[in-house]
Amino acid sequence: MNLSNFLLLLHFLGFGLLFTTLVAGWLLNRQYKGAVDFSTKALILKSMRPIGLLSPFAILLMLLTGIGNMQVRDLGLFTESWLSAKIVVFIIAAVNGIVFGVRARKRGKLIGQMAEGTAPQGTDKSIRSLDTQLQLFYVIQFVLLLIILILSIVKPGRYEVSA
Ligand code: HEM
Repeated sequence: MNLSNFLLLLHFLGFGLLFTTLVAGWLLNRQYKGAVDFSTKALILKSMRPIGLLSPFAILLMLLTGIGNMQVRDLGLFTESWLSAKIVVFIIAAVNGIVFGVRARKRGKLIGQMAEGTAPQGTDKSIRSLDTQLQLFYVIQFVLLLIILILSIVKPGRYEVSA
């Protein structure tokens, strides 16, 4: 296996990891929403934490192997339009992931306080707002990932000579 194949292998593994963390997080978020008491919700959020921590690692892996793919193929940032578009959508998805990672941590803290009975007044309202935002986050992130994948497969604008 040459370097180009090896980088692509790591790139695919990174994608698998990213996709799995997103779907697992989404499913656990549904379980969380269905739970009736705050101690169960706190427990579900605790089990979501290691999954959430995997995604920055997967994002970094995609970035590093993506840059590697560009190097071995001699592609620049503006060489092919599909790649430029893909990198822009990737940056949006990465920033979205960081912003919502912070919000998810804040929700976890508030739910913990609710479970312990130490939450200040109005916490339930903040939790409801964060719940709505995080639900939307999964949908947006899924669509962004799908756009990146379609751009990578179709590569609109690439000129290829058919055999
Ligand atoms: C969620 C993020 C990403 C996904 C889902 C993704 C997906 C893919 C897939 C499926 C391929 C294989 C295409 C093929 O062999 O025909 C690919 C190739 C490639 N990716 Fe990514 N990628 C991501 C992020 C990145 C990033 C951040 C970069 C650049 C910094 C990048 C650069 C490349 C390059 C240069 C190729 C080789 C394309 C070619 O010339 O055939 N990728 N990617």
